[in-house]
Amino acid sequence: MEKVGIIGMGLIGRAWAIVFARAGFQVAAWDGTPGAVKRSLAAVDTSLADLEAAGLISEPHTAVRARIVEAATLEEAAANTVYVQESVTEKLDDKRAIYSALDAAAPAGAVLGSSTSAIQCSHFTEHLAGRARCLVAHPVNPPYLVPIVELSGAPWTSAVTIARARAIHERAGQVPITVLKEIDGFILNRLQSALLNEAFRLIEGGYVSPDDLDRTVKDGLGLRWSFMGPVETADLNAPAGIADYLKRYSAIFRGVDTSIRAAEPWSDAVIPVVDAARRSAAPTEKIAAHQAWRDRRLMALLAHKAAQAKLPKP
Ligand SMILES: NC(=O)c1ccc[n+]([C@@H]2O[C@H](COP(=O)([O-])OP(=O)(O)OC[C@H]3O[C@@H](n4cnc5c(N)ncnc54)[C@H](O)[C@@H]3O)[C@@H](O)[C@H]2O)c1
Repeated sequence: MEKVGIIGMGLIGRAWAIVFARAGFQVAAWDGTPGAVKRSLAAVDTSLADLEAAGLISEPHTAVRARIVEAATLEEAAANTVYVQESVTEKLDDKRAIYSALDAAAPAGAVLGSSTSAIQCSHFTEHLAGRARCLVAHPVNPPYLVPIVELSGAPWTSAVTIARARAIHERAGQVPITVLKEIDGFILNRLQSALLNEAFRLIEGGYVSPDDLDRTVKDGLGLRWSFMGPVETADLNAPAGIADYLKRYSAIFRGVDTSIRAAEPWSDAVIPVVDAARRSAAPTEKIAAHQAWRDRRLMALLAHKAAQAKLPKP
């Protein structure tokens, strides 16, 4: 059984432990805070039981859990691995120090992936002898329910490293994409920021309520995007495909883009507006229950997508 090391067992590290153990990898988890791995493993037990109840793991949750062990040191977690996923707190100096230790401890063939949300790979790997085997592998929380993982290398990350990381994440059931050049926000957060910035600007400007904004996405844009993405969606929205679509509608998109670029950024004045709308729908003491509801809906959607993916496309 191939081994994966998990470095940092907070919210994201423990979710990665589930991803790799669920796919049959042996997982060794280490965290710098004493007691953190034990606390996280209790949360892992609950999540695995939920996944089993939703039919999203194909064996008893205890069998998956048995593949996750606590490592006493970073060196023990990294020993004999094919892949290491680093998920310590988002601090550049900590990532640099952890990567120095990992590069010394992991076997030469192991790929070293970081969960960092926003730090470029080149900022914490330049000094390493083994920098060619390092990359960012950015997840969305929780990665055992949202499969996308953005692989972003530094200029010195080798093509073999990217290919091996893609293969390992695919075997783990994730959907890796490659960020071809380093860029702030990678791909997902650039798209998310474009949508959120415009959403907040529209709400602050009094053009739409927060609830109707959400309806526009969940009962409009988001329905097709959950299984096609915006490029394929556009391709199917004109008789002769995306070139035809852009010939017909690009003037609209370019006009809106010009007006967005000329607009003022949204201000903090929008915060009480969106907060009031959300707290009336989900009081603060019910947020945890709403998060559990979100995860159940996500599990149902994943089961639906998995069943539909078996049907042939024309
Ligand atoms: N939370 C999210 O939604 C999310 C999503 C995508 C990526 N990320 C990224 O994942 C990483 C982890 O985030 P998180 O939300 O799990 O944070 P967290 O605070 O829940 O967990 C971080 C863990 O790392 C440990 N740790 C901190 N510094 C350490 C060090 N120097 N050495 C060893 N262990 C150390 C802590 O004890 C803790 O258990 C961050 O880089 C973050 O940007 C987070």
